[in-house]
Amino acid sequence: MTKKLFLKTLGCAMNVRDSEHIIAELNRIERYDLTQNESEADLIIINTCSVREKPVNKLFSEIGQFAKHKKKSAKIGVCGCTASHLGADIFKRAPEVSFVLGARNVSKITQAINSEKFLDINIDHDESGYAFGEFRQNPYKAYINISIGCDKKCAFCIVPHTRGEEISIPHEIILKEAAKAAKNGAKELFLLGQNVNNYGRRLSGGKKGELNFSQLLTKIAEIDEVKRIRFTSPHPLHMDDEFLEVFASNPKICKSMHMPLQSGSTNILKAMRRGYSKEWFLERAKKIRQLSPIAAISTDIIVGFPGESEKDFEETMSVMEEVRFEQIFSFKYSARPLTLAAAMRDKVDIATAAKRLLKLQTRHAQILDEISSDYLETVHEVYFEEIRDGGFVAGRTSQNNAVCVKGGEELLGTFQNVKITQPQRLILYGQIA
Ligand code: SAH
Ligand code: F3S
Repeated sequence: MTKKLFLKTLGCAMNVRDSEHIIAELNRIERYDLTQNESEADLIIINTCSVREKPVNKLFSEIGQFAKHKKKSAKIGVCGCTASHLGADIFKRAPEVSFVLGARNVSKITQAINSEKFLDINIDHDESGYAFGEFRQNPYKAYINISIGCDKKCAFCIVPHTRGEEISIPHEIILKEAAKAAKNGAKELFLLGQNVNNYGRRLSGGKKGELNFSQLLTKIAEIDEVKRIRFTSPHPLHMDDEFLEVFASNPKICKSMHMPLQSGSTNILKAMRRGYSKEWFLERAKKIRQLSPIAAISTDIIVGFPGESEKDFEETMSVMEEVRFEQIFSFKYSARPLTLAAAMRDKVDIATAAKRLLKLQTRHAQILDEISSDYLETVHEVYFEEIRDGGFVAGRTSQNNAVCVKGGEELLGTFQNVKITQPQRLILYGQIA
C-alpha cells in the first residue's frame, strides 16, 4: 500500500522546488501519494519560510492543529528556512515534531523520517552537486535550481543565515537537467537562485564557474525542446549590459524581468546594503525598456525599513511612477533575528508603515488598471499550464501575465495565440485567436 504525504509549502519558488526534491527523495524508498487532508496522512511536512515574522508565528499554531487531527502513527516534520533558523527550539516549543531539517539539508529527508528524533540544520552542507530524484508537480514547466544560498548581506534579510553561502551548481548538471525536463514535456524552464545573475561566481570548493549567467542562458536556449526560459531572482546590482542584451535579444527568454527595488531612496538602499543607488536602478530599468519595449518589469518593495522618512518613502513612490512596474510584491518591514537591521534604531512605527503600504498598493492598483485596459483586443502567445475551476485553462504570456480561456486538458502544454476580451488586474480573460 502506498503511503500518504501531506506537504505544505510556504514562501518562495526555491521552497517549491525543495518540496519537489523532498517528494522525489521519499519516493526513492517507498511510494508516497500527496494528500490535501492531514488526517489521512502518514507523514506531515511543513516546508517553511522565515523571511517575515508572521508565517513563523503561524507555524506553531499549525503544528498544534496537525497534531490534533493526525493519524496516531503519523510523523510531523519541519523543513526549510524556519527549521534552519529555529533548529532545536522547534522541538521545545512543539514536542510533537519528529524532525527538523534545514533548507540546505533536503537530501537527508529519508534519514530524517527513519529516525526517532532528527535534527540537521547545517548551513555549510553542500548539495550543489547532489543528484536529487525526479519529481515535478507540473509536467509542463520545470523549476531548475542553478545555485544554492546567498552571498549578499542585505541588512533586512535572514536568507543568508538560513541557506548559507552562495554556491553555483555546475553548468553541466544544469544543462543535463534542462534537456531532460524539456524532453519530458516541460517546454518552459524556470531557473532558480537567490541571486541568479551572480551565477558562476563560485562553484563548490571555491573555483570560479566556466560560464556566467548570460552564457548559461544562451547555452540553455540552444536546447531544441526548450521553448521558454524564465528566472528568478536577479539582483539589480549585477544587471550588466551583457545580461540585459542577452535578456532582450534571445527569443526564448521570456520578456519578464524581476528587479527587486526594495526602496527608491539611495540613503535607505545604503542602509539596506543593497549596493546600488536609485539612479542606477532607474537607468537599468530604462535600458531594459529601451532594449525590449515589450518587456514587463516586476519588483519587491519594503516599506518602513528603520530610518525611512516620509521623503524616503516618496522616493520609492517616484520610482514606481517612473518605471510603472507591471507587478509589485510589497511588504511592511519585519525585523528578523540575526540581521543587521534588527539592531538598528529609529524604527518606523507600525501605523506609519501600514499607511505607506496602503498608499503604495492603492496607487499601484491604479497603474495596473491603466496597464491592463491597454490589453483589450490585443493578441498574445500563451503557454497553457494549468486547469482552473469553471471550465477554464490558464497560461502565461512571455511577459508573465496570467491568461485564462475556456478549455480543457487538450490545451495543456501548447502555445496558442489568445485575443484578450476581458482584461482584469491580475488575470486577462480571452479567446483563442
Ligand atoms: N534574493 C531573493 C530575496 C528573497 S526574500 C529575491 O530577490 O527574491 C524575498 C523578498 O522578501 C525580498 O525581495 C524582500 O522584498 C522581502 N523581504 C526580505 N526580508 C524582509 C524583511 N525582513 N521584511 C520585509 N520584507 C522582507
Ligand atoms: Fe536576501 Fe539580499 Fe540575498 S534580499 S536572499 S540577502 S540578495
